[in-house]
Amino acid sequence: MELYRLLQQQGFGSRKECRKLVEYGLVEINGEVAEDYRQEYLPADIEELVVDGEPWPLQDGAIYLLLHKPDGYETSHKPMHHPSVYTLLPWQFGNLGISAVGRLDVDTTGLLLLTNDGQFVHALSSPKRHVPKCYEVTLKHPVLDDLVRHLLAGVFLKDDNEKIAADQVEVVDEITIRMTITQGKYHQVKRMVAAAGNRVMDLHRLSVGSVVLGDLDEGQWRYLEADELASFGFGPDK
Ligand code: URA
Repeated sequence: MELYRLLQQQGFGSRKECRKLVEYGLVEINGEVAEDYRQEYLPADIEELVVDGEPWPLQDGAIYLLLHKPDGYETSHKPMHHPSVYTLLPWQFGNLGISAVGRLDVDTTGLLLLTNDGQFVHALSSPKRHVPKCYEVTLKHPVLDDLVRHLLAGVFLKDDNEKIAADQVEVVDEITIRMTITQGKYHQVKRMVAAAGNRVMDLHRLSVGSVVLGDLDEGQWRYLEADELASFGFGPDK
């Protein structure tokens, strides 16, 4: 593949922009400045790609990411009042069709999955799949047995005729619970807690399926590991 096309495929912009990157001497391949944007390369030939001084790991196939979403970011490509979570990722991903798998509210922190694989988004968002999502919930009022009982038995949300229940509720301390849900309704945790007579002050997502946030710093991202992808039934052999 010609170099400028390869750069385009990696998210570096339009054909013209990618040609310019090479013409301006900003592209290094395996330690050498590339001179000809028409030079043919196979991705396998490229051990090291550096563009404008920044090493770029070659993207091969679909991309799956995990971001530790901070407070004050909108899960939207067109944010209204706050910066977008996509500004926390390398800008090249913006040209590769990366989107979040579901949304977290602007004030919710924690684990957010992102991908450019539409089937992955669809599979994980499907209500039939019941992917468990675990949240740490800080409450306004101390936890009462009643709250836990209500959440587990199911509560009615406004405009919904069906009862909706948490799968698990663990009391962490006087004002903190860990709550696992398998649906993905709008403001679901906040609305469930409100319907059970308390109020969410802070919401932090710890895990989706068996993928955990771990000690990734706020605002940081990483690629999903092969075994994490496989745990959702995705990956090279699936
Ligand atoms: N439930 C909520 O209420 N908000 C979120 O961001 C996620 C789940």
